Amino acid sequence: MKPTNASREIPVRADLDAFADDHAYLRSCREQAPVVRAPSGVPIVLHFRNIEKMVDPRTTRQLETEGLAFQGVTSGPLYDVVQRSMLFSNGQVHRNRRGGLSRTFAFKLMEGYREDVRALADRLVAGHVGHGPMDFLEDIAGEIPARIIAKLLGVPEDDIPQFRKWVYAAVRGIGFHGPEERPEIEKGARALQAYVDALLDGPASERSFITRYVQDNREEGSLTEEEIRGQIITLIIAGSDTTRLALCSAMHHLLRHEDQWRTFCEAPEELKKPVVQETMRYDPSVASFPRVTLEELEIDGYVIDAGSFVGVSTMSAMRDPEAYADPDHFDIHRTDHPKWHPVFGAGAHRCLGEALARVELEEVLASLATLAPNSAPAGQPPKISGLAAVRSIDQMALELR
Ligand code: HEM
Repeated sequence: MKPTNASREIPVRADLDAFADDHAYLRSCREQAPVVRAPSGVPIVLHFRNIEKMVDPRTTRQLETEGLAFQGVTSGPLYDVVQRSMLFSNGQVHRNRRGGLSRTFAFKLMEGYREDVRALADRLVAGHVGHGPMDFLEDIAGEIPARIIAKLLGVPEDDIPQFRKWVYAAVRGIGFHGPEERPEIEKGARALQAYVDALLDGPASERSFITRYVQDNREEGSLTEEEIRGQIITLIIAGSDTTRLALCSAMHHLLRHEDQWRTFCEAPEELKKPVVQETMRYDPSVASFPRVTLEELEIDGYVIDAGSFVGVSTMSAMRDPEAYADPDHFDIHRTDHPKWHPVFGAGAHRCLGEALARVELEEVLASLATLAPNSAPAGQPPKISGLAAVRSIDQMALELR
């Protein structure tokens, strides 16, 4: 789409430190313009109404390896992960990589894991009830996604603690990170790659979905062996930090809104779906997704140059008053959620693991509301921060009771 009379300069908003939190900063940006330059200089698109435009394949494409090159990474295990991943590819390559897996991760099939997820959540939660302060971030929120993905892949129970460490080390590589973090990230990515190789080269488990996925793709022949393994690594990485942080954020905000937590505890099965919708909107684990403009692009009169790296702030869009009534108000009874929750992105790369993530979040929160309704924060509240990609959290302790 060619710009019409667009000429307005995109304002630079480097004043993040002047605001109480990331949401207040984004609110102020939204009120100023539909697109602003973040402290990094990257244009961020802020409104709900512009998300679709930003995933139109005629005007933008997904970031490939440029994000890493920008950080000085042009080879090595982290580069291999990104280069082979569906998440960082475009067009036919992306369709080939995503194809077989989207059937496996369909909503109907993921429902089949609900009981297993609930059983795991009940076991973990019950083990902590009445035992004083506990590390919620590590011992529940971090444990569930790693265990579920391990189960899906057929990782033996004994390997899970080590597997988990590599996963969380490698995960940090897909967002922006400091050079001092790189050795640890590369170590995790290398170990995870070697582990997946050993899993695929070892005896095939009849029940594991990984066996079927690999067999089907080898027969079809549209992916190289490295690409097949790359998609498995992508799944492991994409489903871990995102869900861990979403669980923490949900519990943090539910306990802060005591009346709504009480309401949830009275009817957890009935309310688990709306609770998950609202907690993901209010303080999401993914703040934005990246795109590169293919041509000069107009956003409500502001022009983004062709070839620009852009952030689409779904975090801002989910507090956009044009899309949600009283958006800064946390309300588990809200009825204005759109059909497709923007927290999972949009377009061809929309989250492949949405169904699994929802099952995990719904069952873990329902388990907590049922088995630990008198829970309370223990220690400092967590600091959840970040404006790009997966956000970060410093710690979170709770007392389950
Ligand atoms: C609350 C949890 C989650 C959130 C908020 C989330 C969010 C997202 C978002 C925003 C994208 C799109 C990124 C883009 O367009 O650049 C994405 C892609 C993806 N997610 Fe998730 N995700 C979550 C959980 C999961 C889980 C549990 C899995 C799998 C086990 C998963 C697997 C993937 C994969 C494979 C992609 C890449 C899809 C593609 O490129 O075609 N995610 N996710």
